[in-house]
Amino acid sequence: MVSYKKLGLVNTKKMFAKAVKGGYAIPAFNFNTMEQMQAIIQAAVETKSPVIMQVSKGARKYANPTILRYMAEGAVQYAKELGCKKPQIVLHLDHGDSYETCKSCIDSGFSSVMIDGSSLPFKENIKLTKKVVNYAHKHDVTVEAELGVLAGVEDEVSAAESHYTKPEEVVEFATKTGCDSLAISIGTSHGAYKFTAAQCTRDPKTGKLVPPPLAFDVLKAIEKKLPGFPIVLHGSSSVPQDCVDTINKYGGKLPDAVGIPEEQLRKAAKSAVCKINIDSDSRLAMTAAIRKHFAEHPDHFDPRQYLTPAREAMKEMYIHKIVKVLGSNNKL
Ligand code: G3H
Ligand code: 13P
Ligand code: ZN
Repeated sequence: MVSYKKLGLVNTKKMFAKAVKGGYAIPAFNFNTMEQMQAIIQAAVETKSPVIMQVSKGARKYANPTILRYMAEGAVQYAKELGCKKPQIVLHLDHGDSYETCKSCIDSGFSSVMIDGSSLPFKENIKLTKKVVNYAHKHDVTVEAELGVLAGVEDEVSAAESHYTKPEEVVEFATKTGCDSLAISIGTSHGAYKFTAAQCTRDPKTGKLVPPPLAFDVLKAIEKKLPGFPIVLHGSSSVPQDCVDTINKYGGKLPDAVGIPEEQLRKAAKSAVCKINIDSDSRLAMTAAIRKHFAEHPDHFDPRQYLTPAREAMKEMYIHKIVKVLGSNNKL
Protein backbone atom coordinates (compact mmCIF):
# COMPACT_ATOMS: atom_id res chain seq x y z
CA MET A 1 0.00 0.00 0.00
CA VAL A 2 1.47 3.36 -1.09
CA SER A 3 -0.24 6.46 0.27
CA TYR A 4 -0.57 9.32 -2.21
CA LYS A 5 0.33 11.66 0.63
CA LYS A 6 3.83 10.17 0.69
CA LEU A 7 4.13 10.95 -3.02
CA GLY A 8 3.27 14.63 -2.41
CA LEU A 9 -0.10 14.40 -4.17
CA VAL A 10 -3.41 15.80 -2.87
CA ASN A 11 -7.03 14.68 -3.17
CA THR A 12 -9.74 16.86 -4.73
CA LYS A 13 -11.68 17.85 -1.63
CA LYS A 14 -10.32 21.31 -0.77
CA MET A 15 -9.45 22.01 -4.38
CA PHE A 16 -13.06 21.54 -5.52
CA ALA A 17 -14.58 23.44 -2.60
CA LYS A 18 -12.35 26.41 -3.46
CA ALA A 19 -13.12 26.18 -7.17
CA VAL A 20 -16.90 26.04 -6.70
CA LYS A 21 -16.74 29.02 -4.38
CA GLY A 22 -14.36 30.93 -6.63
CA GLY A 23 -16.28 30.30 -9.87
CA TYR A 24 -13.51 28.54 -11.78
CA ALA A 25 -12.74 24.95 -12.80
CA ILE A 26 -9.73 22.71 -12.25
CA PRO A 27 -8.17 21.33 -15.44
CA ALA A 28 -8.17 17.54 -15.68
CA PHE A 29 -5.70 16.60 -18.37
CA ASN A 30 -5.21 12.98 -19.47
CA PHE A 31 -1.65 11.76 -19.88
CA ASN A 32 -0.08 8.72 -21.49
CA THR A 33 3.45 9.91 -22.22
CA MET A 34 6.34 11.69 -20.54
CA GLU A 35 5.99 14.67 -22.89
CA GLN A 36 2.33 15.16 -21.92
CA MET A 37 3.25 14.96 -18.24
CA GLN A 38 6.07 17.50 -18.64
CA ALA A 39 3.85 19.89 -20.60
CA ILE A 40 1.05 19.63 -18.01
CA ILE A 41 3.42 20.39 -15.14
CA GLN A 42 5.19 23.23 -16.93
CA ALA A 43 1.82 24.82 -17.73
CA ALA A 44 0.48 24.38 -14.19
CA VAL A 45 3.63 25.80 -12.59
CA GLU A 46 3.85 28.78 -14.97
CA THR A 47 0.22 29.70 -14.38
CA LYS A 48 0.21 28.80 -10.65
CA SER A 49 -2.72 26.46 -11.19
CA PRO A 50 -3.81 23.34 -9.35
CA VAL A 51 -4.04 20.44 -11.76
CA ILE A 52 -5.52 16.96 -12.10
CA MET A 53 -3.40 14.47 -14.03
CA GLN A 54 -5.66 11.66 -15.08
CA VAL A 55 -5.00 8.17 -16.29
CA SER A 56 -7.48 6.08 -18.28
CA LYS A 57 -7.65 2.32 -18.54
CA GLY A 58 -6.16 2.73 -22.01
CA ALA A 59 -3.27 4.78 -20.57
CA ARG A 60 -2.57 2.08 -17.97
CA LYS A 61 -2.44 -0.49 -20.76
CA TYR A 62 -0.24 1.69 -22.97
CA ALA A 63 2.27 2.98 -20.47
CA ASN A 64 2.09 0.43 -17.61
CA PRO A 65 0.38 1.36 -14.31
CA THR A 66 3.59 1.33 -12.28
CA ILE A 67 5.38 3.65 -14.69
CA LEU A 68 2.45 6.08 -14.70
CA ARG A 69 2.40 6.19 -10.91
CA TYR A 70 6.12 6.93 -10.72
CA MET A 71 5.65 9.56 -13.42
CA ALA A 72 3.07 11.26 -11.20
CA GLU A 73 5.48 11.13 -8.28
CA GLY A 74 8.15 12.54 -10.60
CA ALA A 75 5.68 15.24 -11.63
CA VAL A 76 5.48 16.52 -8.05
CA GLN A 77 9.27 16.71 -7.79
CA TYR A 78 9.49 18.29 -11.25
CA ALA A 79 6.97 20.99 -10.25
CA LYS A 80 9.12 21.78 -7.19
CA GLU A 81 12.24 21.87 -9.33
CA LEU A 82 10.48 24.38 -11.60
CA GLY A 83 9.98 26.66 -8.59
CA CYS A 84 6.55 25.72 -7.25
CA LYS A 85 6.96 25.31 -3.49
CA LYS A 86 3.60 23.65 -2.82
CA PRO A 87 2.23 22.06 -5.98
CA GLN A 88 -1.41 20.96 -5.89
CA ILE A 89 -1.39 17.86 -8.09
CA VAL A 90 -4.05 15.14 -8.09
CA LEU A 91 -3.41 11.72 -9.62
CA HIS A 92 -6.82 10.56 -10.79
CA LEU A 93 -8.16 7.37 -12.34
CA ASP A 94 -10.35 8.32 -15.30
CA HIS A 95 -13.38 6.12 -16.06
CA GLY A 96 -12.58 3.37 -13.56
CA ASP A 97 -14.68 0.42 -14.70
CA SER A 98 -14.67 -1.80 -11.62
CA TYR A 99 -14.17 -1.84 -7.85
CA GLU A 100 -10.97 -3.86 -8.39
CA THR A 101 -9.41 -1.26 -10.73
CA CYS A 102 -10.27 1.55 -8.31
CA LYS A 103 -8.85 -0.40 -5.35
CA SER A 104 -5.66 -1.20 -7.22
CA CYS A 105 -5.17 2.50 -8.06
CA ILE A 106 -5.89 3.58 -4.47
CA ASP A 107 -3.41 0.99 -3.20
CA SER A 108 -0.73 2.20 -5.57
CA GLY A 109 -0.87 5.93 -4.77
CA PHE A 110 -3.78 7.55 -6.64
CA SER A 111 -5.36 10.41 -4.71
CA SER A 112 -8.67 10.32 -6.56
CA VAL A 113 -10.63 7.76 -8.58
CA MET A 114 -13.61 7.80 -10.86
CA ILE A 115 -15.99 4.88 -10.77
CA ASP A 116 -17.96 5.04 -13.99
CA GLY A 117 -21.17 3.15 -13.41
CA SER A 118 -23.08 5.34 -15.87
CA SER A 119 -23.94 2.43 -18.14
CA LEU A 120 -25.50 0.48 -15.24
CA PRO A 121 -29.11 0.71 -14.06
CA PHE A 122 -29.51 3.46 -11.40
CA LYS A 123 -29.59 1.13 -8.39
CA GLU A 124 -26.57 -0.88 -9.53
CA ASN A 125 -24.63 2.33 -10.20
CA ILE A 126 -25.39 3.38 -6.61
CA LYS A 127 -24.30 0.00 -5.23
CA LEU A 128 -20.99 -0.07 -7.11
CA THR A 129 -20.20 3.58 -6.43
CA LYS A 130 -20.92 3.17 -2.71
CA LYS A 131 -18.58 0.17 -2.53
CA VAL A 132 -15.77 2.22 -4.08
CA VAL A 133 -16.52 5.22 -1.84
CA ASN A 134 -16.37 3.04 1.31
CA TYR A 135 -12.88 1.80 0.42
CA ALA A 136 -11.59 5.12 -0.95
CA HIS A 137 -12.69 7.20 2.03
CA LYS A 138 -10.86 4.87 4.42
CA HIS A 139 -7.72 6.10 2.67
CA ASP A 140 -8.79 9.74 2.28
CA VAL A 141 -9.08 9.27 -1.48
CA THR A 142 -11.86 11.20 -3.24
CA VAL A 143 -14.36 9.60 -5.63
CA GLU A 144 -15.98 10.91 -8.80
CA ALA A 145 -19.12 9.13 -9.96
CA GLU A 146 -21.23 9.53 -13.10
CA LEU A 147 -24.94 9.79 -13.83
CA GLY A 148 -26.18 10.11 -17.40
CA VAL A 149 -24.51 8.87 -20.56
CA LEU A 150 -22.14 10.73 -22.89
CA ALA A 151 -22.17 9.85 -26.57
CA GLY A 152 -18.91 9.30 -28.43
CA VAL A 153 -16.39 6.65 -29.19
CA GLU A 154 -13.01 6.27 -27.54
CA ASP A 155 -10.75 3.27 -27.17
CA GLU A 156 -12.25 2.28 -23.85
CA VAL A 157 -15.23 4.57 -23.38
CA SER A 158 -18.06 4.37 -25.85
CA ALA A 159 -21.78 4.90 -26.20
CA ALA A 160 -23.83 5.41 -29.32
CA GLU A 161 -26.24 7.91 -27.84
CA SER A 162 -26.18 10.43 -25.03
CA HIS A 163 -28.77 10.58 -22.24
CA TYR A 164 -28.77 13.74 -20.21
CA THR A 165 -28.46 13.38 -16.45
CA LYS A 166 -31.89 13.43 -14.80
CA PRO A 167 -31.89 16.22 -12.19
CA GLU A 168 -34.53 14.34 -10.17
CA GLU A 169 -32.02 11.51 -9.55
CA VAL A 170 -28.99 13.45 -8.33
CA VAL A 171 -29.90 13.97 -4.67
CA GLU A 172 -30.68 10.31 -4.04
CA PHE A 173 -27.52 9.29 -5.91
CA ALA A 174 -25.17 11.69 -4.09
CA THR A 175 -26.71 10.93 -0.70
CA LYS A 176 -26.76 7.17 -1.03
CA THR A 177 -23.27 6.84 -2.54
CA GLY A 178 -21.40 9.53 -0.58
CA CYS A 179 -19.43 10.40 -3.73
CA ASP A 180 -17.32 13.57 -3.67
CA SER A 181 -18.14 14.83 -7.16
CA LEU A 182 -20.54 13.98 -9.94
CA ALA A 183 -19.90 13.79 -13.68
CA ILE A 184 -23.00 14.75 -15.61
CA SER A 185 -24.20 14.56 -19.19
CA ILE A 186 -25.39 17.86 -20.70
CA GLY A 187 -24.36 17.40 -24.31
CA THR A 188 -20.57 17.02 -24.23
CA SER A 189 -19.04 13.83 -25.62
CA HIS A 190 -15.68 12.14 -25.95
CA GLY A 191 -13.30 12.41 -28.89
CA ALA A 192 -12.70 14.80 -31.78
CA TYR A 193 -16.11 14.27 -33.43
CA LYS A 194 -18.52 15.43 -30.78
CA PHE A 195 -21.43 16.17 -33.07
CA THR A 196 -22.56 14.84 -36.42
CA ALA A 197 -22.97 17.32 -39.27
CA ALA A 198 -26.73 16.81 -38.93
CA GLN A 199 -26.64 18.10 -35.32
CA CYS A 200 -24.76 21.28 -36.34
CA THR A 201 -25.32 24.30 -38.51
CA ARG A 202 -22.63 25.50 -40.93
CA ASP A 203 -20.93 28.89 -40.70
CA PRO A 204 -21.52 30.34 -44.18
CA LYS A 205 -18.21 32.26 -44.06
CA THR A 206 -15.82 29.47 -43.02
CA GLY A 207 -17.83 26.41 -43.97
CA LYS A 208 -17.04 25.05 -40.48
CA LEU A 209 -19.60 23.23 -38.36
CA VAL A 210 -21.23 25.16 -35.52
CA PRO A 211 -22.32 22.78 -32.74
CA PRO A 212 -25.56 23.01 -30.77
CA PRO A 213 -25.36 24.58 -27.28
CA LEU A 214 -24.92 22.53 -24.12
CA ALA A 215 -28.00 21.87 -21.98
CA PHE A 216 -27.39 24.63 -19.42
CA ASP A 217 -30.97 24.25 -18.22
CA VAL A 218 -30.14 20.71 -17.06
CA LEU A 219 -26.97 21.96 -15.33
CA LYS A 220 -28.96 24.69 -13.59
CA ALA A 221 -31.59 22.21 -12.40
CA ILE A 222 -28.84 19.93 -11.02
CA GLU A 223 -27.18 22.86 -9.21
CA LYS A 224 -30.50 23.74 -7.67
CA LYS A 225 -30.94 20.21 -6.33
CA LEU A 226 -27.35 19.95 -5.05
CA PRO A 227 -26.22 23.46 -4.14
CA GLY A 228 -22.42 23.77 -4.00
CA PHE A 229 -21.83 20.11 -4.91
CA PRO A 230 -18.81 19.63 -7.23
CA ILE A 231 -19.89 18.85 -10.79
CA VAL A 232 -17.61 17.40 -13.49
CA LEU A 233 -17.74 17.76 -17.25
CA HIS A 234 -16.20 15.04 -19.40
CA GLY A 235 -15.70 15.31 -23.15
CA SER A 236 -14.80 18.99 -22.97
CA SER A 237 -12.18 19.38 -25.67
CA SER A 238 -12.79 22.29 -28.04
CA VAL A 239 -11.11 20.60 -31.01
CA PRO A 240 -9.18 23.75 -32.02
CA GLN A 241 -9.74 24.31 -35.71
CA ASP A 242 -6.19 25.61 -36.28
CA CYS A 243 -4.88 22.20 -35.10
CA VAL A 244 -7.39 20.36 -37.29
CA ASP A 245 -6.43 22.54 -40.29
CA THR A 246 -2.70 21.94 -39.69
CA ILE A 247 -3.26 18.18 -39.42
CA ASN A 248 -5.28 18.15 -42.63
CA LYS A 249 -2.79 20.44 -44.43
CA TYR A 250 0.09 18.08 -43.68
CA GLY A 251 -1.47 14.82 -44.78
CA GLY A 252 -4.00 14.09 -42.02
CA LYS A 253 -7.64 13.32 -42.56
CA LEU A 254 -9.96 14.74 -39.91
CA PRO A 255 -12.96 15.98 -41.85
CA ASP A 256 -15.59 17.85 -39.85
CA ALA A 257 -13.92 17.32 -36.45
CA VAL A 258 -15.81 19.52 -34.00
CA GLY A 259 -15.68 20.20 -30.25
CA ILE A 260 -17.28 22.27 -27.50
CA PRO A 261 -16.98 26.04 -28.12
CA GLU A 262 -14.76 27.67 -25.50
CA GLU A 263 -17.32 30.30 -24.53
CA GLN A 264 -19.62 27.50 -23.38
CA LEU A 265 -16.87 25.97 -21.26
CA ARG A 266 -16.09 29.41 -19.81
CA LYS A 267 -19.74 29.71 -18.78
CA ALA A 268 -19.72 26.20 -17.28
CA ALA A 269 -16.50 26.89 -15.33
CA LYS A 270 -18.20 29.78 -13.55
CA SER A 271 -20.93 27.44 -12.25
CA ALA A 272 -20.71 24.40 -9.94
CA VAL A 273 -18.69 22.69 -12.67
CA CYS A 274 -15.31 22.49 -10.97
CA LYS A 275 -13.47 19.84 -13.06
CA ILE A 276 -13.24 19.94 -16.83
CA ASN A 277 -11.76 16.95 -18.68
CA ILE A 278 -9.55 17.55 -21.70
CA ASP A 279 -7.76 14.81 -23.61
CA SER A 280 -8.48 15.11 -27.34
CA ASP A 281 -7.12 18.68 -27.59
CA SER A 282 -3.76 17.47 -26.32
CA ARG A 283 -3.73 14.68 -28.92
CA LEU A 284 -4.59 17.18 -31.66
CA ALA A 285 -1.94 19.71 -30.57
CA MET A 286 0.70 16.97 -30.47
CA THR A 287 -0.28 15.47 -33.83
CA ALA A 288 -0.45 18.85 -35.57
CA ALA A 289 3.04 19.78 -34.35
CA ILE A 290 4.54 16.44 -35.35
CA ARG A 291 2.93 16.39 -38.81
CA LYS A 292 4.13 19.95 -39.47
CA HIS A 293 7.61 19.12 -38.23
CA PHE A 294 7.93 16.06 -40.47
CA ALA A 295 6.65 17.99 -43.50
CA GLU A 296 9.21 20.74 -42.91
CA HIS A 297 12.09 18.45 -41.87
CA PRO A 298 11.79 15.22 -43.85
CA ASP A 299 15.36 14.33 -42.87
CA HIS A 300 14.67 14.26 -39.10
CA PHE A 301 14.43 10.93 -37.33
CA ASP A 302 15.51 11.71 -33.74
CA PRO A 303 12.31 11.67 -31.62
CA ARG A 304 13.66 14.60 -29.61
CA GLN A 305 13.54 16.74 -32.77
CA TYR A 306 9.80 16.29 -33.31
CA LEU A 307 8.70 15.72 -29.70
CA THR A 308 10.19 19.04 -28.57
CA PRO A 309 7.78 21.15 -30.68
CA ALA A 310 4.98 18.69 -29.84
CA ARG A 311 5.57 19.20 -26.11
CA GLU A 312 5.72 22.97 -26.61
CA ALA A 313 2.42 22.94 -28.54
CA MET A 314 0.70 20.95 -25.77
CA LYS A 315 2.08 23.27 -23.09
CA GLU A 316 0.74 26.32 -24.95
CA MET A 317 -2.64 24.65 -25.29
CA TYR A 318 -2.75 23.76 -21.55
CA ILE A 319 -1.81 27.34 -20.59
CA HIS A 320 -4.52 28.68 -22.89
CA LYS A 321 -7.14 26.44 -21.25
CA ILE A 322 -6.05 27.35 -17.73
CA VAL A 323 -5.89 31.11 -18.26
CA LYS A 324 -8.48 31.80 -20.95
CA VAL A 325 -11.12 29.13 -20.37
CA LEU A 326 -11.11 27.58 -16.88
CA GLY A 327 -9.72 30.50 -14.86
CA SER A 328 -7.67 28.30 -12.51
CA ASN A 329 -4.52 30.42 -12.79
CA ASN A 330 -3.12 32.08 -9.66
CA LYS A 331 -5.09 29.80 -7.37
CA LEU A 332 -2.25 28.06 -5.50
O1 G3H B 1 -12.59 9.61 -21.60
C1 G3H B 1 -11.76 9.14 -22.35
C2 G3H B 1 -10.38 9.68 -22.37
O2 G3H B 1 -10.21 10.57 -23.44
C3 G3H B 1 -9.40 8.56 -22.38
O3 G3H B 1 -9.31 7.99 -23.63
O4 G3H B 1 -9.48 5.56 -23.17
O5 G3H B 1 -8.45 6.42 -25.30
O6 G3H B 1 -7.26 6.67 -23.10
P1 G3H B 1 -8.59 6.56 -23.80
P1 13P C 1 -12.25 14.85 -24.67
O1 13P C 1 -12.26 13.69 -25.60
O2 13P C 1 -13.26 15.87 -25.07
O3 13P C 1 -10.91 15.47 -24.53
O4 13P C 1 -12.71 14.33 -23.22
C1 13P C 1 -11.80 13.70 -22.37
C2 13P C 1 -12.45 13.07 -21.19
O5 13P C 1 -13.60 13.27 -20.88
C3 13P C 1 -11.63 12.17 -20.38
O6 13P C 1 -12.37 11.52 -19.39
ZN1 ZN D 1 -14.38 11.06 -19.91
